[in-house]
Amino acid sequence: MESMLRSAVRRALAAVVLAAPLAVCANPFAKGDPSEGSKLHAKSCASCHDSMYNDRNGLQLYSADHRKMTSASFLRQRVEACASRFNVGWFDEEVDHVSRWLNDEFYRFR
Ligand code: HEC
Repeated sequence: MESMLRSAVRRALAAVVLAAPLAVCANPFAKGDPSEGSKLHAKSCASCHDSMYNDRNGLQLYSADHRKMTSASFLRQRVEACASRFNVGWFDEEVDHVSRWLNDEFYRFR
């Protein structure tokens, strides 16, 4: 009993220690909703990126091997620029959703 209690306490402490850094490093796109971002990207952005590659997988554009973006602010600017250039009719909110999804899935800028 005593040892079960002790291991439960140890697990709880470990959870707190592991979670702390996540709480401290706020997501740069905290306002964005990644599941909305994923849908918006699929609807308005993916097909053109897909057409750029022989295997038609445009997501590799965001991989470490292909990407040109180097920071969260650069990424957001690019999403905004593409959205206005291709006239998708997004507000700041949609730009945040897509930036959030791209960053959570691929870039992981802090
Ligand atoms: C008609 C084609 C086309 C459409 C539509 C398009 N893009 Fe792009 N996108 C490109 C091309 C081409 C590049 C690569 C340009 C380069 O190498 O700098 C690019 C690059 C990017 C990059 C930079 C990737 C990196 O890390 O280097 C981002 C982010 C991006 N697009 C986001 C979007 C978003 C968001 C949308 C939808 C609103 C979108 N694009 C729609 C053609 C398109």
